[in-house]
Amino acid sequence: MRITIFGTGYVGLVTGACLADVGHDVLCMDVDADKVARLEAGEIPIFEPGLEELVTANTASGRLRFTTDAATAVDFGVLQFIAVGTPPDEDGSADLQYVLTVAETIGRYMREFKVIVDKSTVPVGTADRVREVVAGVLEERGEALDFEVCSNPEFLKEGAAIEDFTHGARFVVGTSSERVRELMRECYAPYIRLQEKLMFMDVRAAELTKYAANAMLATKISFMNEIANLAERLGADVEQVRRGIGSDPRIGYHFIYPGCGYGGSCFPKDVRALTRTASDVHYEAQLLGAVEGVNHRQKQTLFDKLERAFDGALAGRTIALWGLAFKPNTDDMRDAPSRTLMEALWRVGARVQAYDPEAMGECRRLYGERDDLTLVDSREAAVQGADALVICTEWKVFRMVDFDWLKRQLGMPVVVDGRNLYDPETVRKAGLMYFAVGRGDSLKRP
Ligand code: UDX
Repeated sequence: MRITIFGTGYVGLVTGACLADVGHDVLCMDVDADKVARLEAGEIPIFEPGLEELVTANTASGRLRFTTDAATAVDFGVLQFIAVGTPPDEDGSADLQYVLTVAETIGRYMREFKVIVDKSTVPVGTADRVREVVAGVLEERGEALDFEVCSNPEFLKEGAAIEDFTHGARFVVGTSSERVRELMRECYAPYIRLQEKLMFMDVRAAELTKYAANAMLATKISFMNEIANLAERLGADVEQVRRGIGSDPRIGYHFIYPGCGYGGSCFPKDVRALTRTASDVHYEAQLLGAVEGVNHRQKQTLFDKLERAFDGALAGRTIALWGLAFKPNTDDMRDAPSRTLMEALWRVGARVQAYDPEAMGECRRLYGERDDLTLVDSREAAVQGADALVICTEWKVFRMVDFDWLKRQLGMPVVVDGRNLYDPETVRKAGLMYFAVGRGDSLKRP
């Protein structure tokens, strides 16, 4: 099957590479000529496990190609995936300008029946807007060509995107057309042999499904963070509580890990966008507001704990940071808790000495050269000469630690753990003050 994908960002590239890998002919279009040239040379602009190999193999076989030429792209596939960015507006709603520009392009160049597939995360009602734009352009051109718009949101986790694409829980397709259903069945046929994973529904239901899924997951996290904060004040250990509630299959063990707040490109943006969509239809989404509020507060807790440990005297201190990415296996620092912490430390005149296995380039790009930030190339170097250690991301390399050694490295024996990686007893036995999340006495100094 011939498939065109607009946008070679995270979603577009993963979708394109995966669909090419199962035998489709895929043409990825991007307006950024430099990016297309680099992709053709096998250079992948993002860090995603397995993606480079997949792109290289399928480019070599000729099933995955790239172009900057819009007319060629529109001509190519019967399916025209829109996978361009939807960055948040100042008011939190998703900015649709890139999506609608692609719609215009498709309207301008199409010469036969096309199915436009919204892959980007777009607010409910966007398929209708895309349809209006395409119809408008066709009318201007004086062409009466047939086309369909359907919604096919992605549910990819960074760091596990290829696995999620190939073995995900479902493929959601919102459409009322049998012809579209047929084509989408053909597109995803290689993935649905074993199980009926293709879910057809109304367009608006599909659009809302994406936001509802992310909002639900964000709610689980904020809920657990709220319980963790309560546990700290009540002298209970949230890790025991987590196991206690997770054993109920109605609750489940997934996504109930308390921490230093959720970040990334999806949860913060999507929760805000859904709140905004709600207010557009005159509904106050109270729960969503609280989910975001709790998360905002949670990201400050790392700094609050440090401040308490140092009795407010953080100026001139050097704080070691393990982990900068918003989660492991990615170099993404969008809305990462590490950023809230670093910025708060800099405001009070403290220095940061940080290590991350993948995100240091991104950190340099975001913050540039500055006196109060040193990026080092190992976890050992990060704690050398530091006054305290904070863990922001649960990378595997941070899981095993010789705490006696750690104690010798730190000026003050303070460890703030935003990911509950260690057994509090073991850390304390080495003479360290351990401030984790919701672990009974996480707030208290010994
Ligand atoms: C998420 C969704 O999982 C994915 O389905 C959607 O398509 C895009 O958004 P992603 O942002 O890549 O994916 O990351 P995810 O692994 O879901 O983690 C999001 C954030 O939640 C991270 O900051 C993580 O640290 C945090 N988290 C996750 C917790 O704090 N506790 C948990 O129990 C789980």
